[in-house]
Amino acid sequence: MTQALRFVLIQLSAMLLAALIVSVFKWPALFWAVSVAVLSLLGALRWHDGKWWGLIHTIFPFLLLLALNLPIDSRWYLAALLLSWMIFGGVLRNRVPLYLSNSQALKILADQVPEGARLIDLGAGTGTVLAWFTRYRPDVYVSGVELAWIPWLIGHFRLAKSTAQWQHGNVFAADLANYDVVYAYLSPEPMIQLWEKAKNEMRPGSLLISNSFDIPNAPPARVLDIGDWKGSRLLVWTI
Ligand SMILES: C[S@@+](CC[C@H](N)C(=O)[O-])C[C@H]1O[C@@H](n2cnc3c(N)ncnc32)[C@H](O)[C@@H]1O
Repeated sequence: MTQALRFVLIQLSAMLLAALIVSVFKWPALFWAVSVAVLSLLGALRWHDGKWWGLIHTIFPFLLLLALNLPIDSRWYLAALLLSWMIFGGVLRNRVPLYLSNSQALKILADQVPEGARLIDLGAGTGTVLAWFTRYRPDVYVSGVELAWIPWLIGHFRLAKSTAQWQHGNVFAADLANYDVVYAYLSPEPMIQLWEKAKNEMRPGSLLISNSFDIPNAPPARVLDIGDWKGSRLLVWTI
């Protein structure tokens, strides 16, 4: 079961149980929020895989209570939900949010990319990597695939006049056989699946480069420090 579904189930169960307790003792709504926070925190410690889920569960009922008491039209919440989904849609499937490669990372990445190579950015965000390559390394044939609609649309306009190939779609539907370099800045979650895909599809001698995230039990051939405040690294595997 995904962590997002767990969140919904834990919250709903805690809300129902808290509603029962509050109605029996005739407590005010604030006690309902406190009870939900405590119950869902216990659920998070038992069923989620990161401590920060506990924080989200604890804060959520108070924000809900606040939102119910604010004079805001409920359609705004629907609009905010749709907007979030269109920007961060990949989070629900692969737990990969949107954050962008910085210029230090791109310079180090470019040093790894041979002259005239074909490169694909898997989960290409707003097209930052492709825009950088079309400007500073026009010899490289660049391609990108992005699932979330708003980043894809931004990339679409940004790259409209360039030679970059910009696709809307799922990383796991892309054929990697045609690329010399595959770049991925995703999250720990899809890395094993990505490694299996790379081994099956990429040609011998081609490079898989991950920004920041390891592949369990597959040591990279090289690790390059990006030198940013996060201590990020590029990990390079030769297929
Ligand atoms: C961390 S961002 C990296 C953006 C860009 N590659 C860069 O380095 O600036 C990861 C992106 O991958 C996208 N993503 C996540 N899962 C995806 C999938 N299965 N298929 C396509 N894109 C996906 C997310 O929507 C997000 O925009």
